[in-house]
Amino acid sequence: MTDRYAVFGHPIHHSKSPFIHSAFAQQTGQDLTYTAIDAPAETFTTAVRAFFAEGGKGANVTVPHKEAALALADDATPRAQEAGAANTLLFTADGAIYADNTDGVGLIRDLTNRWGLSLEGKRILLLGAGGAAKGILAPLIAARPRAITVANRTAARAEALTTAFAPLAVRFDVTLTTLPWAQLVHREATPPFDLVLNATSASLAGSTPPLSRALWAPDAVAYDLMYGASPTPFLIAAQQQGAARAIDGLGMLVEQAAESFWLWRSVRPETEPVYRALRAQLAASAAR
Ligand code: ATR
Repeated sequence: MTDRYAVFGHPIHHSKSPFIHSAFAQQTGQDLTYTAIDAPAETFTTAVRAFFAEGGKGANVTVPHKEAALALADDATPRAQEAGAANTLLFTADGAIYADNTDGVGLIRDLTNRWGLSLEGKRILLLGAGGAAKGILAPLIAARPRAITVANRTAARAEALTTAFAPLAVRFDVTLTTLPWAQLVHREATPPFDLVLNATSASLAGSTPPLSRALWAPDAVAYDLMYGASPTPFLIAAQQQGAARAIDGLGMLVEQAAESFWLWRSVRPETEPVYRALRAQLAASAAR
């Protein structure tokens, strides 16, 4: 019998996950279907439980349900607990729901495997302190950069985030601090950052966090967790101001999917062909 998987979100019609997982299944010869299910907050938990009751084997969960997905699970991986959110659910043979979060490992794999970057000993600026930032902070710390600086429009959220992750930062010998939002523009960044990650949702409003030339080290990389048919406002601003490379979150999307696929099927798909196909689709849609 064909195994069933789905992604739950709201809205969900633009999701690339059905394409990605169908491509992985074809490439690895796995017999499965993967659909997108639109579920508003009020019906999310019921919809997930119904999917499992009807024989679903696993699910991805995206905005705005990642916290709710962790809450409904019977058990969760340490990385999902650290993120306070889950993007992957697995239905076990004995009827339990097991939650994982593959976003962070997806980001790290994209940075290291696809783009050849090493984070060890580097200085990282993390913009944003919402769910996306929280989801990647533990794996970023575990990659042993020298320092991670968090800046958020609402300062209290940046403080709360660094306080929550302080013990982990101590364990990995990472200096974890905050920077006032206003200082992104005015500060003489000494020393500047090797990697600036945009984990804000500013792109959705067509805007970018404030940036300045002083933020960037000579080989600095700007990375936006979001992606689109054309470069995000953050990536455009970063390049204008001296970032050596600008990378969007499309690779992270494919890598987190591959990690979910691995959890469900115990098979690792090749991500590069799927990444290239998605990039070509985006380029075609930009040209239209
Ligand atoms: P997500 O799960 O995408 O992180 P979230 O938890 O709502 O969503 O967090 C959104 C993040 O983007 C927050 O860091 C938010 O800043 P605030 O905490 O000050 O709200 C940030 N953000 C959203 N729109 C922004 C904008 N136009 N400029 C700067 N930061 C923005």
